[in-house]
Amino acid sequence: GMGGHGGHGGHGGHGGHTISAPNAVALPEGAPLRELPRLVNQAAAKGVFKARLTAQPAKVRFAAGLDTPVLGYNGLSPGPLIAVTEGDQVEIIFANRIPGEESTIHWHGMPVPADQDGNPMDPVASGAERTYRFSLPEGSAGSYWYHPHPHGRTASQVYRGLAGIFLVKPKVDPIPVAYGDTPLVFTDLRLAADGTMPDSTMVDLMNGRVGDHVLVNGQKNPSLSVLRGTKRRFRLFNATNARFLRMSFEDAAITVIGTDGGLLEKPVPADEIFLAPAERLDVIVAFGKAGKATLRTLDYDRGWMGPHRPADASMSLLSVNVAQAAAEPAPPLPDRLRTIEDLGAPAQTRRFVLTETMGMDASGMTMAFLINGAAFDMKRVDIVAKAGEVELWEIVNQADMDHPFHVHGTQFQWVERERNGRVTKPAYRAWKDTVNVAHGETVRLLIRQDLPGQRMYHCHILEHEELGMMGIVDVKA
Ligand code: C2O
Ligand code: CU
Ligand code: CU
Repeated sequence: GMGGHGGHGGHGGHGGHTISAPNAVALPEGAPLRELPRLVNQAAAKGVFKARLTAQPAKVRFAAGLDTPVLGYNGLSPGPLIAVTEGDQVEIIFANRIPGEESTIHWHGMPVPADQDGNPMDPVASGAERTYRFSLPEGSAGSYWYHPHPHGRTASQVYRGLAGIFLVKPKVDPIPVAYGDTPLVFTDLRLAADGTMPDSTMVDLMNGRVGDHVLVNGQKNPSLSVLRGTKRRFRLFNATNARFLRMSFEDAAITVIGTDGGLLEKPVPADEIFLAPAERLDVIVAFGKAGKATLRTLDYDRGWMGPHRPADASMSLLSVNVAQAAAEPAPPLPDRLRTIEDLGAPAQTRRFVLTETMGMDASGMTMAFLINGAAFDMKRVDIVAKAGEVELWEIVNQADMDHPFHVHGTQFQWVERERNGRVTKPAYRAWKDTVNVAHGETVRLLIRQDLPGQRMYHCHILEHEELGMMGIVDVKA
């Protein structure tokens, strides 16, 4: 399978009891998959992308007769798709029209200057605007996304609807255009009977908020029709707060061609794929058999602190109708896609130990999610690194559940996983900005920051990030 996680997926060790929320609302399924609206480039000059993104309250009709208040970018949830080409200069005016809340836009995974990256240290007040400016270097093509990152409000702004996709395309793409290029963005939704999204509970804070529905491009289990023999390119984005997606494509064949930070060196066939929160994959799916092909979730034991474990196995995420009529033969996928640099020997080794603590105080139950025993402090620099220098980071998960570890401003390569004394190495090189560190597991990765400034590293279960599992690396020029 796809070497995206520790290889212990599958056999849920928590008794498999499942709950459905008491007032869970059924959503219509099977509507044709909609294309994500694009953010229109306002610039006339070649190589420049200029646009405006406004975060604002909006309404979405997930079920007949129910209008759900959400937050949207330009009124849309998921936000509009941004597509640029590497080398482009980008200028985005951000207007925060969220009543009474600070926000920012963070360009998840992209090599943008630290002061343009929407860090919690650079909030945009409610009613204010700011312009984000950056250019995308050669070699930065990849599948990125954007979302808010204000201190203490990231989790709720994301589950209420603020997240969008940012594609950086290469100047010359080795993947045949005949495959198309279809983003599939997964979000998670919990809906009360009156159509509102309930506030997060204590259990949500502990485990990360997991809703009742996984949506694809804002729709539940949408459908797609193709001819037999069709090959399609899909980009998968896990934009949920805390949902772990282990998936297979029944009656179709998956080949992985890229990860968070762009293409692999060679295509890799995969029986199943795995996306922890914030991870992405670029895949080719071949529909060889007439009938129905289904993208479906498989059970996955991500560890669990609270009393319940939601049903996340065997949900149909996308239903594809494959016609008997044959498609024009698709051009072959090249067997070399690009070269990924060898990062070489690290100049520095660091260790990050992830722990959870639970306690009681006068106000009731307390909990903290810590890195090296400390909770996040915006005013504290945790480590100092040097731009251009390769480091080995060892992420040790001593907690009872998985923590997807993310670093801003660069892409890294994981080189080793260790669990119960067993060491696994990756089968191939890949650029990542988020890697799942399963409970009881240690992940080692090579990382180099090329741009100076303060960068965040954190668990991408957004509730954990807000309860302290985040730090700051100050990269010196
Ligand atoms: Cu999606 Cu701090 O990140
Ligand atoms: Cu990020
Ligand atoms: Cu976590």
